Amino acid sequence: MSKLLKRTHMCGQLRLNNLDEEVILNGWVSKQRNLGGLIFVDLRDKTGITQVTFDESCPKELLEKASTLRSEFVVGIKGRVVGRSSVNNNIPTGEIEVIAKELEIYTKAETPPIYIKDDDQVDDNLRLKYRYLDLRKQKMQNNLMFRHKIAKCARDYFDENGFVEVETPMLIKPTPEGARDYLVPSRVNVGKFYALPQSPQMFKQLLMVGGTDRYMQIVKCFRDEDLRADRQPEFTQIDLEMSFVDADDVMAMQEGFLKKLFKEVMSIDLFTPFPRMTYKEAMSRYGSDKPDTRFGFELRDIAEAIKDTEFKVFADALNEEGHSVRGISIDGGSDKYSRKDIDRLTDRAKQYGVKGLVWIRVTDDGYNSSVNKFFDASDLEKIAKVFDSKSGDLILIASGKDKVVFDSLGFLRRHIAGEMGLLDDNRYNFLWIVDFPLFEEDEEGKLKAMHHPFTKPKDEDAFLLSEKPKEVCADAYDIVLNGVELGGGSIRIHDEKMQADMFKALGLSDEECQEKFGFLIEAFKYGAPPHGGLAYGLDRLVMLLSDQHSIRDVIAFPKNQNAQCMVSEAPGPAPSAQLAELALEVVATKNE
Ligand code: AMO
Repeated sequence: MSKLLKRTHMCGQLRLNNLDEEVILNGWVSKQRNLGGLIFVDLRDKTGITQVTFDESCPKELLEKASTLRSEFVVGIKGRVVGRSSVNNNIPTGEIEVIAKELEIYTKAETPPIYIKDDDQVDDNLRLKYRYLDLRKQKMQNNLMFRHKIAKCARDYFDENGFVEVETPMLIKPTPEGARDYLVPSRVNVGKFYALPQSPQMFKQLLMVGGTDRYMQIVKCFRDEDLRADRQPEFTQIDLEMSFVDADDVMAMQEGFLKKLFKEVMSIDLFTPFPRMTYKEAMSRYGSDKPDTRFGFELRDIAEAIKDTEFKVFADALNEEGHSVRGISIDGGSDKYSRKDIDRLTDRAKQYGVKGLVWIRVTDDGYNSSVNKFFDASDLEKIAKVFDSKSGDLILIASGKDKVVFDSLGFLRRHIAGEMGLLDDNRYNFLWIVDFPLFEEDEEGKLKAMHHPFTKPKDEDAFLLSEKPKEVCADAYDIVLNGVELGGGSIRIHDEKMQADMFKALGLSDEECQEKFGFLIEAFKYGAPPHGGLAYGLDRLVMLLSDQHSIRDVIAFPKNQNAQCMVSEAPGPAPSAQLAELALEVVATKNE
């Protein structure tokens, strides 16, 4: 049995001012080098690495014991701090080493299936299966500590501003965020199901009715949706709600938070208030409601320049309601992108629905394009003028349904900026997107709430709710950072009549409203304060501030692309006895 050597320092802590001190370190063996009679051990914990040396001053048994050490053995070492003859400038403890006097081996370890090394090129699923080993990497530990700092700063700031952290239930009725729910069968109420919350939306509103005034919660949310680099089926929100406020109050409160956060965790002074842009402007200039404003390549509508065209693809788009012809001009793109490259970009853009792209190269000798047959030089010049393009630029044009054109060009401008190295990680372009439409149309042309059905119309648009709902703007706001939607929120409806009009516009019958939101409607009968709020995606916030490219890297135990937990192998089959208790039967699985 080993005895615990109680540590005096962490492995990343010792410096020259600790010279001659007797210290105890605990940690994992990162590396052992045996030069016969002289053994070097790199000892690691979450704070860093210290070199421990077993030399001729060590008794023979100690040297023998040290020679059995292998990577990832967990040990305690007592020794004396000395200066190193060959300084290692790559690590903060590189000027010292510890000459060992005592060694305890707490546990031995098998050879790990993945290297414990930052940026090791290992298959993602293997990394996730052995996540506890992956977490031993310095980068991962830094990410966890950084996440903790951000969460702490949020709690401190909102506490200082009168917010109270309140937990809301996890087993609830479906929430109205619009994704698919995770369902949990009830044993006590056989045949009935809970939903895991997509957000605490309705409960935080009930807290306002309950007089809590200012609520915050760092809370898990669950959405069964297709996964991407910035989406997980379970993720964390910093969720907020305030009473007796308007949209400006909520946004100013957030600017205060982000200012404090950046100062505390990044030592960066942010300028507030952040710029605001309407949804309409964001779409027409950037093709996205979360524009990355760190670079140009703005979208332009070229309808006027091509109004007399006989090129059928463009003419058709111009003649159809809700269709358009737009493009982007890439500064210096003509040299950068060959024909083959443009084909590759076109294939990527096709994923967003466009059938093809028209390209125009602006050169010293004039214009060259994929539509030379249909446009002469003066036509092409007219188009190039719309973009103020100059020699060396490349114009890419998409036509078709507005949504398809926006999505394709919105994707292309950011993708190309990435390829051209224009996404500066040291710039933080915050932006509020405001004046969202209250409704959007689903595939069948039915109206659905763009945020959720409790979002208030802007006061000046409220009268349009019954007559022209598609023209109503919502009193909603999203906070966007460098092309990522960090958070979103709105002022809520607190008036019974307005809420009824909203449900009517959504085509919900009284029964449906009662079934879905009855308890909230009922609560609002007893005095609801004007209120509003916002929720941040904490994972996204941590990802952006720590320069990671996936939220998986800032979540301790994330799910893989197929929503599986590789560590615990969830989801798994349920034992038949448990299914019977729940009166459930699995009739088919996907693989059958
Ligand atoms: P919303 O649905 O916009 O608003 O969500 C708020 C923020 O949560 C983050 N987010 C996600 N992060 C990771 N994985 C996901 N699957 C995921 N889905 C959303 C985003 C997003 O901006 N109840 C409202 C807020 C409110 O109105 O107060 C809500 O949940 O960063």
